[in-house]
Amino acid sequence: MAIGCGVDEPTAERYLGDGAFRRGVLERSLWRPDLPYSRSLLASYALGDAGWDLLSPMTELTALVTRADSEALQAGRALSLDDAEPVAGAGSDVDALPSDEAAWVALGKRVFERLPMRPDGFLRYLVGTPEIWQRVGIRERADGTLRGIVKYRDVRGDVRVGLTCALCHASPSDDAALAAAPALQRNGDSINGRADRGLDLGLARALASEASGVSADPRLRSWGAGRVDVTDDGVNTPTAVPDLWAMPYKTHLNHSGVIKIVSPATSAVRFETQYVLGHRMETRPRRALTWALSRYIAALQPPAPPSAPSVPPSAELARGKALFGERCASCHRPDRGFAGEMVLASQLMHDPAVATTPERGTGYYKVPSLVGVRYGAPYLHDGSEPTLASLLERGHPRGRAISGDDQRALIAYLETL
Ligand code: HEC
Ligand code: HEC
Repeated sequence: MAIGCGVDEPTAERYLGDGAFRRGVLERSLWRPDLPYSRSLLASYALGDAGWDLLSPMTELTALVTRADSEALQAGRALSLDDAEPVAGAGSDVDALPSDEAAWVALGKRVFERLPMRPDGFLRYLVGTPEIWQRVGIRERADGTLRGIVKYRDVRGDVRVGLTCALCHASPSDDAALAAAPALQRNGDSINGRADRGLDLGLARALASEASGVSADPRLRSWGAGRVDVTDDGVNTPTAVPDLWAMPYKTHLNHSGVIKIVSPATSAVRFETQYVLGHRMETRPRRALTWALSRYIAALQPPAPPSAPSVPPSAELARGKALFGERCASCHRPDRGFAGEMVLASQLMHDPAVATTPERGTGYYKVPSLVGVRYGAPYLHDGSEPTLASLLERGHPRGRAISGDDQRALIAYLETL
């Protein structure tokens, strides 16, 4: 698909001001328009005088929740919004748009960390029950805030607790990794873009439900840390939270590739619909915020490689590279960031459940980029392979195992990507 050919020039102005352009991006991104998920977006998005365009924009005053908020909830007190500030920054003028790309990206970082994507009942319980934080993988930071959890006033005027992108897509990292990360990705003790593989939201939801006297769906406890089912289709298909770097190489969004990336505006459109659905179609984000978010995500980088004390011998790397060329490069294309075209799930030895869900199943899995793959364990859409070695031993992708010296050489090469 050609990108940026004249009419499709994906500037902020077009995305913000041209509904027909947004509609076109959505239509072309949904390559399986008959799926229920696609139909629901097509029925409501960018219709001008109908559908979600009529929703009023979300309130933008938010604050990260703190230990003090936890104490308020434990004591049965209301949460205070006295410390809330606009997502765009204290004193910001919502009519003023960022003036250059760096300013868009900086705004996107604030959106990533502070704009609630959805309110969730279990979050209020979670915030008010610090004794379970460690069990579910929530860490209180040195300044007393919790990453990715905010309080805000919803369109009905109620003060809610909500989650942001940074809850799942940022991860605590050691000091050396933090120091090496680009400033734009540092978020307290965490790196934005890196999936939090220690966070167990299934368990958090199960505990919240039990605390309210409702017996929890037993499947929630089976998700495990780092895995979430983000759909409400009744089918239990938790997937691994992906790292968000290498966006320029991604061909599709989500493991089943339900959204094809046809333009840099694709992710802005997708994020907009994500917030609308998350807020139960009662409000929509201001579009400058979703555009900024898409620019931010596009700029995320994998952490720098550890300052390698043990560079593998070059002969081993050369052997690994040659093996990759023979066995892997037809799908993981080196000229495309080691991503590639969609693959029919039935032709892989992986569990096809996520590729075939009734709501979003395309029948295919996308080929993920292998840029930064050394940080990506556990692997595959369901996080079912703990290491690169186990993945190769199991015979990814179609049953032919790679072991011994070949395996060592291939892994040495993969770790340089
Ligand atoms: C509750 C955890 C959670 C939150 C919060 C969350 N995501 Fe995700 N995200 C996921 C999971 C899980 C997937 C994989 C979904 C799938 O494949 O079906 C995903 C997929 C994605 C993808 C596609 C990446 C790829 O390689 O396919 C992008 C981009 C993304 N999320 C961005 C965001 C942004 C931006 C936000 C905030 C608006 C956000 N996510 C909030 C869990 C989350
Ligand atoms: C037939 C196409 C195809 C070939 C050939 C192929 N892969 Fe893959 N690869 C995929 C697909 C599709 C996925 C995603 C599957 C899923 O999520 O379940 C994947 C996933 C991966 C992952 C997991 C990435 C992550 O972030 O979870 C790694 C690592 C990987 N492949 C490495 C390799 C290596 C090494 C080879 C060569 C031995 C190889 N692949 C050959 C299609 C292929």
